[in-house]
Amino acid sequence: MKHARGADKSRIPPGPRGNLLLGSLRRVQHEPLELLRQGFHDHGDIVRFRFGMTLAYLLAHPDHIAHVLHHNHRNYNKRNIDYAMLRRLLGNGLLTSDGAFWHRQRRLMAPMFHRQRIAGFCALMVSSTQEMLERWDMVAVREEAFDVTAEMTRLTLAIVAKALFSADVSDDAEAIGAALTEVNRQLGEFSLLDMFWMVPTRRKRRFREAVAALDAVVGKIIDARRRAIHHNEDLLSMLLEAVDEETNETMTPRQVRDEVLTLLLAGHETTANALAWTWYLLALNPEAEQKLHDEISGVLGGRPPVATDVPRLSYTRMVIEESMRLYPPAWAISRNAIGEDEIGGYRVRRGTNMIICSFITHRHPAIWEAPERFDPERFSPERSAGRPSFAYLPFGGGPRICIGNGFAMTEAQLVLATVAQRYRLRLVPGHPVEPHPLITLRPRHGIQMTLHRTDEADEALRQNAMR
Ligand code: HEM
Repeated sequence: MKHARGADKSRIPPGPRGNLLLGSLRRVQHEPLELLRQGFHDHGDIVRFRFGMTLAYLLAHPDHIAHVLHHNHRNYNKRNIDYAMLRRLLGNGLLTSDGAFWHRQRRLMAPMFHRQRIAGFCALMVSSTQEMLERWDMVAVREEAFDVTAEMTRLTLAIVAKALFSADVSDDAEAIGAALTEVNRQLGEFSLLDMFWMVPTRRKRRFREAVAALDAVVGKIIDARRRAIHHNEDLLSMLLEAVDEETNETMTPRQVRDEVLTLLLAGHETTANALAWTWYLLALNPEAEQKLHDEISGVLGGRPPVATDVPRLSYTRMVIEESMRLYPPAWAISRNAIGEDEIGGYRVRRGTNMIICSFITHRHPAIWEAPERFDPERFSPERSAGRPSFAYLPFGGGPRICIGNGFAMTEAQLVLATVAQRYRLRLVPGHPVEPHPLITLRPRHGIQMTLHRTDEADEALRQNAMR
């Protein structure tokens, strides 16, 4: 592998030539992760790509990533092709907006994600998992295989809807799942025809239908709240009641829709994928799985976890961190360069698309020892010391770091602990498992698993029967 040291400032970085007309456009549509990985392998820490008319740099080194996301973040916004596509779905919500508007909305919503607020969601996170386990008990008795990704998606959707909007979306879970699969696929694998807005295609019709289905769910949540006489002081009430200090106006219905849909989608799909990959990795690594079970038994002694247990479940946290290192749910993010810049000795022209691929940086051989190995303890305080902060970025970084990161980590720890008290999950032999890099990193064919009761759960069952 080559590195970008000592490069000439006036030059642009090395990269694949690609097709004369389209550059690497076709490959990025069909195999984006392979394209980026090969670029890193062949050219090192900064790689130039051309996608049609767009110039893009892949940044793999933590120092260069820190420059874009943190030190010089004002020179980079989300006005690029990737976010333009996402904006078609999410409008101007927190994930896709920019500048002063984004800043105001972020300040408004931040209190809802404070540590104390999150602690208040722990009981809901555990009870929702227990409800899922009731269903799983039937599946276990019948010794059926099931797709753990679908189950985790249903669970995290129920949790985020209840926690932020006090809404029960269980009846809409399938419609949301189907719509999300459609938009995820379309935004992840965009077609050249998408660039010509006037050309009607079947893909576009299906996209519009999926957005309409999601809009209907959001509409239902908001209408129910407007009709309710009593309601919780949750994120939804905050959005509906917020008054702009300058204009003295409340948010428009369209803006409320954008924020609710953003949080509903960003708040469950990523966490679900993180959990699904974690079950997969635990099944492949019995030693780590045993350690996890030992910690959970030691800390909880068979009772359900509560908020104060979360900091004590440290190995559980490391397992999730290591899982998101190998399979980061938001596997790539990008930015548009507003003005000229210089990174790693190379010139960055205005309008360059900066690609940050955590999947690649999380396996950077100069930073991670044996990067392909699943080794949760690399996240222990001792072994983390001295690691550059932007070497690990499942939640992004800088001012645009994921607003839900504390929520997601707490939720993942509690779900993992609650499930692992009762079950070990085993992979169905022969079922192919491979990452599918769309907007999120989903398992391409799902992950088929079977359930096996833990000794602890069997013991509890015996004790109950004897009483
Ligand atoms: C394991 C779970 C999660 C992962 C891996 C994840 C990942 C990310 C990443 C990488 C970003 C930064 C995007 C960028 O800089 O371009 C982001 C932003 C965001 N995430 Fe998450 N996320 C997770 C869970 C959540 C949850 C639970 C919520 C809400 C309940 C949430 C809501 C958001 C929002 C609203 C933003 C935009 C923040 C802003 O720009 O101010 N995410 N997430």
